[in-house]
Amino acid sequence: MKAAVYKKYGPPDVVRIEEVDKPSPRSVEVLVKVFATTVNRTDCGFRSAEYFISRFFSGLFKPKFEILGNEFAGIVEAVGKDVALFNVGDSVFGYNDTKFGAHAEYMTIAEKDAITTIPPDVTFEQAAPLTEGAHYALCDIRAARVKNGDNVLIYGASGAIGSAAVQLVKYFGAKVTAVCNTQNVEIVKSLGADQVIDYMAQDFTRIDQKFDFIFDAVGKSSFGQCKPLLKKYGIYISTELGKNSENIFLALLTPLFNGKKVLFPLPAIKKEDVTFLKELVESGKFRPLVDRSYHFDQIVDAYKYVETRQKTGNVVITLT
Ligand SMILES: NC(=O)c1ccc[n+]([C@@H]2O[C@H](COP(=O)([O-])OP(=O)(O)OC[C@H]3O[C@@H](n4cnc5c(N)ncnc54)[C@H](OP(=O)(O)O)[C@@H]3O)[C@@H](O)[C@H]2O)c1
Repeated sequence: MKAAVYKKYGPPDVVRIEEVDKPSPRSVEVLVKVFATTVNRTDCGFRSAEYFISRFFSGLFKPKFEILGNEFAGIVEAVGKDVALFNVGDSVFGYNDTKFGAHAEYMTIAEKDAITTIPPDVTFEQAAPLTEGAHYALCDIRAARVKNGDNVLIYGASGAIGSAAVQLVKYFGAKVTAVCNTQNVEIVKSLGADQVIDYMAQDFTRIDQKFDFIFDAVGKSSFGQCKPLLKKYGIYISTELGKNSENIFLALLTPLFNGKKVLFPLPAIKKEDVTFLKELVESGKFRPLVDRSYHFDQIVDAYKYVETRQKTGNVVITLT
């Protein structure tokens, strides 16, 4: 089969399309013929090993798993002998950031992991980008215990995580103030934000409002900057470590005091999460924002685009 392989850490050009052996499913796994996948910031983080810590998961000196790709949508082509939840021919989507492997014509995943069936009328290209940004956002929103009536500010609302966060926070009944660039204001409004601040025209830290939760989905702000905007027991979460990794230390320190807190939850995804996201799609409460698509043969260009850090939502890769 064809796969996008990387044998060393580095820039997008370390990725090459090569012929490799097609995987075989173990007894508890399904074999998925991949029709669509994505290139996202998680793939970029592991490929570049920009943060050394990622090597503890992906291999200290060179990648343990040579095929990246965590989001996938496709058709079950074969099932292991003990698989009970899926049948050959099922259309499925999901997420795998332990083994990756979706940047290939075929991949395997255990049936108990983050995989479920694609709702009717949803295409492979729409299903593939459902999980990466959304599960990070979901994890942080749950940690902040967002509830009906809360006032939430989302900074970086046009990224994969931010655009999912706007929709998920609305689903949980909170009021959303979203911050993005001029060109994305209308898009972010269309995701359901109640108020959109164009950061090119206005400094959001100067607005005269207080929030229960400030979620920096692109990691460009600091707790110090956002603290005055938080209510007495308000919560700040950033997707980045911050200057000198301060968000880790603040997440250890601030919960010891009775007041404004920084949290730094470790992301995780389970089958229940993909099922939950599927239900939101079925009920029209969530749709992943897609910036552009590339054919599999252009995956290196897709990496280069994602690394501009300017994508609006998600970048999809098609394999058909
Ligand atoms: N290391 C990892 O494994 C990993 C994995 C996933 C995510 N993350 C981190 O999580 C963050 C978000 O990921 P993502 O995939 O959602 O990002 P993304 O999709 O790449 O975010 C790009 C978006 O952020 C907006 N943006 C950039 N600078 C901004 C600023 N100063 N203020 C407001 N918006 C800004 C961009 O719009 P404009 O520039 O046009 O405004 C663009 O729409 C990133 O910092 C990423 O590094 C890390």
